Formats: sequence, structure tokens, C-alpha cells
Amino acid sequence: MNETLDITVTKTEQTRLTVTDFSQLPFGKVFSDHMFIAEYENGEWTNLQVLPYGPILMSPAISALHYGQAIFEGMKAYRFADGKVSVFRPEKNFERFNKSATRMAMPSIPQDIFMQGIAALIEIDNKWVPSQDGYSLYIRPVMFATDPYLGVKASDKYTFALLTTPTGPYYSKALKVKIETEFTRADEGGVGYAKTAGNYARSLYPFAEAQKEGFDQLIWTDAVSHEYIEEAGTANLIFVIDGKLVTPSVRSTVLDGVTRDTIIKLAKNAGIEVEERRVSVKEVIEGIENGRLTDAFAAGTAATVTPIGEIGYEGKVYTLTDPSTRTISAGIAKTLNDIRYGLIPDEFGWNWIV
Ligand code: COI
Repeated sequence: MNETLDITVTKTEQTRLTVTDFSQLPFGKVFSDHMFIAEYENGEWTNLQVLPYGPILMSPAISALHYGQAIFEGMKAYRFADGKVSVFRPEKNFERFNKSATRMAMPSIPQDIFMQGIAALIEIDNKWVPSQDGYSLYIRPVMFATDPYLGVKASDKYTFALLTTPTGPYYSKALKVKIETEFTRADEGGVGYAKTAGNYARSLYPFAEAQKEGFDQLIWTDAVSHEYIEEAGTANLIFVIDGKLVTPSVRSTVLDGVTRDTIIKLAKNAGIEVEERRVSVKEVIEGIENGRLTDAFAAGTAATVTPIGEIGYEGKVYTLTDPSTRTISAGIAKTLNDIRYGLIPDEFGWNWIV
């Protein structure tokens, strides 16, 4: 990090800490007292500030609303037993944020604004980092286009914000997922690898339809043949087949997940063979049927490590192994958890103590 940036701080007059029930924290609904904002104008980021969390004034003509120039990230801050706060691998999210920005014709955010913004926000909202096991402060960086102009072009003005929300895991039980073969999430040459709003918007209708059939989440397949598994939209997917960790390789249609990358490194370190490659629907279904597929889970910052209990495909529902018997994902999830909460040495240097 370079020199200390000039960040204007305006503190809230009334903290909401005292009226927040930390035992009831549905994902993304409760926000901490403050947020960080920076504005991009005339080719530079200015007006860096920490201010009370709340509505911001904007024109209904801003181009993010009309043409979708909007990107985001997700990372988490954990409370150690000694009270310290650590953000997990923020530089990976920073790098991916700027990859998304480039693809969406948006300006990059400098690393010092990203990191010092997080540090300033966590310093002021330190008490919002939960201490219960499994809980953390989810950090949501977002950037959106703010030109009040209806011509179709990349905006000249943007707002970058950091919001924080104390939370438990996104999913609370093993998932029943549907392999989607009608709708698609992403195609080659598109924006699937970017964390941009439209990827999530286009998933909502197929997701709602699957929910009506009793599913919790979708497994997206490739847009050309629907024969290969890509990701779950809210998380990457990892399977254990013949004792090996098998995960769809990262490509232009799949998000390069930080949790996915972390799990691959932890598995290799534990001597588990890892295959990053195209994964066919056929081998997953056959693996469930012949017992070679012994474990399957969603991996993401919000999702953490969530077991997949059932998979629906072409009208049939396949039941996987009992999640309580899965030693590989449970072992990796525990190691990951222990590193994040500072319970075991952080050999990989992933924790950024704020
Ligand atoms: C995350 O895991 O941080 C995500 O962005 C997934 C989110 C859409 C719930």
C-alpha cells in the first residue's frame, strides 16, 4: 500500500448496534452504521468518504439503471478469539473487481482506495464484526455508472461504494439443485466471468421457476450443448469423484471464485488430487448412480461450503450421499474455517489483519 489517502469521515449520530439482534442475521439485510464512497469524474477518483449508511441521491437517468454498467464483489471479515479482525484474501477480490470493470468498460479502482476504504470502514464499524462461530462481516464493494445520459455509451462518471453486513452462512441446509438445460447464465465471449449485475438479473426468472418445483438453486450448464456443468450462479461447484476433487475449469462463462481457488489449494496441500476440467452432466449423474461420486458442494464467499443433497435432472431427482458422511468436504471446510478465524496457522498468508 502507498501513502495514506485523505478520507473524510462523518460518523453517525445514532448507532444501530444497540437495536440489532446479532442472533438474527439473514444474509444481506442488516447493514452496519457506515459505508465508504468514492466518485469517479474527469478521469480520477475523488471525494473519498466514510459516512453513515443510508440512501444516496441520484438521477433516474443514470446509465447503470438503463444499460447495466454495474459490478460488485463479496468478501468477509472474521473476528479472531483475541478480538482482532481479519479480511480473507481481499487482494483476490480486488483483482477480480478490476477484471469485471475492464469487461464492462468501467474504470479500474486503485488498490489503495479499495484496501484503505475497507480498513477505514472496519475501523469505524469494528463492533459490527460478529464473533459467533460461522458468522462474519460480509463486505460488498460495488461500482455503478452515474452519467445522467440516455445515449448508449460507457459512462464518464461512476460511484464506488463499500457496504458491510454482519451475516451467517447464505445457505442453512444441504441444497436441492436443478441442472438447468433450458435457460442459460453465460456464453463464450460474454460476461459470465465478470461479477456484473446482469448475470444475476438473468438468473432470477429461471431460479423462480425452479423454486416452484421445490429446488433451492440451479446448476448452470454450457449454453451450446447443455452437456457440461458450469457453476451455480451464487457459488462454484465442486464434486468428489473416485476420491478426487473435480471442478469445472474457470473459463469465460464461469466466475473465478476465491473460495473455489482456496479449496483447490487446501485440497492439494492435504494430498488430495484435484482436476480442473470440463465436467459433464453425464458423469455426475452416472457417478451418483454408480457410487463413484461421493461428495458435492457449492463453494463461495457467501455460500461458504454448502453440501448438495439432491440433484434434479430431466424430471428426475437424484439423492446424493448423506452429507453427514462426507469427510473430504467437511475436512476442507473445517481447515478453511480454522484459518479464517485464526485458529490454526495461516500458512498461505491469506488473512489480512485490519
Ligand atoms: C458472494 O459469494 O460473495 C456472492 O457474491 C454471491 C452472492 C450473489 C450472494
